[in-house]
Amino acid sequence: MTGVAPPLEPIPLVDLKAQRETIENELQAAIAKVIDRCDFILGEEVDLFERDFAEYCGVPHAIGVANGSDALHLACRALGIGPGDEVIVPAMTFASTAFGVSLTGARPVLVDVRAADALIDPAKIEAAVTTRTKAIIPVHLYGQCADMEAVCAIAAKHSVAVIEDAAQAHGAVYSAKRAGSLGDIGCFSFYPAKNLGAYGDGGLMTTARHDLAERIRALRNCGAPVKYHHQEIGLNSRLDTLQAAILRVKLRHLDNWNEARRQIARYYHGALRKNPEIELTRHAAGSVYHLYVVRVKRRDYVLNTLNAEGIGAGIHYPFALHELGAYAGLEHRRGEFPIADDWARRCLSLPLYPELASNAAYRCADALKSATAAAGG
Ligand SMILES: Cc1ncc(COP(=O)(O)O)c(C=O)c1O
Repeated sequence: MTGVAPPLEPIPLVDLKAQRETIENELQAAIAKVIDRCDFILGEEVDLFERDFAEYCGVPHAIGVANGSDALHLACRALGIGPGDEVIVPAMTFASTAFGVSLTGARPVLVDVRAADALIDPAKIEAAVTTRTKAIIPVHLYGQCADMEAVCAIAAKHSVAVIEDAAQAHGAVYSAKRAGSLGDIGCFSFYPAKNLGAYGDGGLMTTARHDLAERIRALRNCGAPVKYHHQEIGLNSRLDTLQAAILRVKLRHLDNWNEARRQIARYYHGALRKNPEIELTRHAAGSVYHLYVVRVKRRDYVLNTLNAEGIGAGIHYPFALHELGAYAGLEHRRGEFPIADDWARRCLSLPLYPELASNAAYRCADALKSATAAAGG
C-alpha cells in the first residue's frame, strides 16, 4: 500500500452510455422490430413517432427530417424564403440557425442577445426589420424558450413568420405551451447529445398549419408529394425509421430526464451562486437545461484546468456568428454585437446529463470554484 490516492474518475460533459444502460431492453426490442419489418425508409415507426411527438408538443403536425440543420433550411423553404429576403437570427447560436437561411439564398440579419440568458434580445429586433424581412428565428438556447411573447408580437406587427429553433429545448415550456408550438414552424435536432437524442442524426419539424405541413412532407422527400411526382426541387431529408423507433422509446422518458437535469441545475445554482467570480445564466421555470453555462474571466485557463482534472467542461459557443469565416461576407465588425461577443469569450458549460451523480456534480462545482479563484476572478 502506498499513500498515493487513486486518480479520480473522469466526468464527461455528456454520458450517452449511462443513459443507454437504463433503457437497453426497450431499445433492443424497438430496433429488432424495425429490422424484422425492413421498412427502413418512412416506415411505421416514423409515422408513430411523428404522432407521439406532435401530441407531446401539442401541435397537429410533426414531420421527421434527417437532422436539425435540414429542419431549419426546410422551414425557410416551406415559407417561400429565397434570394433577396432577410431573416432575423440571434448572433449567439449554433451556425446551422443561420445556415438554414443562407442555403435558400436569403440573408441572415444578426441581432444581439441578452446578457442574462444569451437569448435573442427582443428590444433589438425591431431595428433590424426591413421591407425584405420574411421571418424571425428565435433560438431556445441552452434549453429555455426565447421571449416568445415579445418576438411573436413584433412578427405579427410586421407580418413576418416565426421559426423556432428548438434544437436544444425538447420539452421546454413557455406560458404553459411546449417549445415547438409557439411559432409558425418549430425545428428540432435529435443529435445524440440533445435532451432527446437519436443514435445518429435526426430532426423534426412541428407546425399547426396544414399547408406548411403538406409542403414540408413533400420537400423532405425529394419534393414529391406522391412518389415520382416531383413538384419542386426538394431534399432527401427523411428521418430514418431505426432512429424514429429509438426516439419513440426515449420520448417516454424525456420528462423524467428533464426533471433530473433541473435537479442538477438547482444543485449547481446553489453551489455557485454566492461566488462573485462565476456569473450564472438566468433560466426561466420552464427550462429543460440542455446545457449549464456559466461565464468566467480567463475562461480558457479555467477550461483547461477543469479538463486537466478530468472534468469534461465545454464551450457553447466559442464564436458569435459574425466571427465565423463563413460569414465574413456579411462584413460585420468585431464588437458590433458586444453581448454575443462576451458570451463567446467567457462562456463555459459544466457536465450535465440526467444520470450525473450528485457527488460528481459536487466535484465539478468545487473544481470550478477553485479554478476561478486561481484565475484571479
Ligand atoms: C441551436 C441549434 N440549432 C441547430 C442545430 C443543428 O442540428 P443538427 O446537428 O441536428 O443538424 C443544433 C445542433 O447541433 C443546435 O444546437
